Amino acid sequence: MSDVAKDKRAGAPAVRAGIALGITVASTVAAIFLFGSAAYDLVKAVHVIAVIAWMAGMLYLPRLFVYHADSKPGSEQSETFKVMEFRLMTIIMNPAMIVAWVLGLWLAWEAGFFSSGWFHAKLALVVAMSAAHGILSAAMRRFAEDRNEKSSRYWRMMNEVPTVLMFGIVILVIVKPF
Ligand code: HEM
Repeated sequence: MSDVAKDKRAGAPAVRAGIALGITVASTVAAIFLFGSAAYDLVKAVHVIAVIAWMAGMLYLPRLFVYHADSKPGSEQSETFKVMEFRLMTIIMNPAMIVAWVLGLWLAWEAGFFSSGWFHAKLALVVAMSAAHGILSAAMRRFAEDRNEKSSRYWRMMNEVPTVLMFGIVILVIVKPF
């Protein structure tokens, strides 16, 4: 049985990710109850940490696909990529995306940004980032079943999508141009 199959059967990465997610959300909720609005900066810090973890995966996973697309199905190399991709998605990217969303929406509600133009634009780009996450997640499942049909060139181009979105999101939230 492959490492991915063993991981899936035991549910190990999902359990570890669930525990990490639970601890993060529970400690943030505790900080909000204890410090009220004063928790804003702390929550923002955790939001940025989650975003960094999410972006690390969004930039690295398509890079793994570039090499995976060129490796022979069934080879040791291909099986290693499957384990790396599955763990990156389930342990890092999925929990990090959820934490970034939950805390980001709380920050926006707390600070009253829902009526700001820059926030609407940021939200649109973050929805696009989440859609890209969904596309990568579906591709990971196809790679796991040796059903990828896209070339390494395609994945090289896909690698640029999260990069471009990230530039826009960070500029919007820091400069708040409108
Ligand atoms: C997932 C949905 C997201 C929501 C709802 C959201 C919302 C927010 C809000 C309301 C703030 C506080 C802004 C302020 O206090 O001035 C914030 C901060 C920040 N967000 Fe997000 N965000 C999300 C995802 C992201 C992503 C994907 C990135 C980067 C790629 C990002 C980067 C940042 C940064 C760098 C800050 C700190 C800005 C500062 O302190 O000036 N966020 N976010």
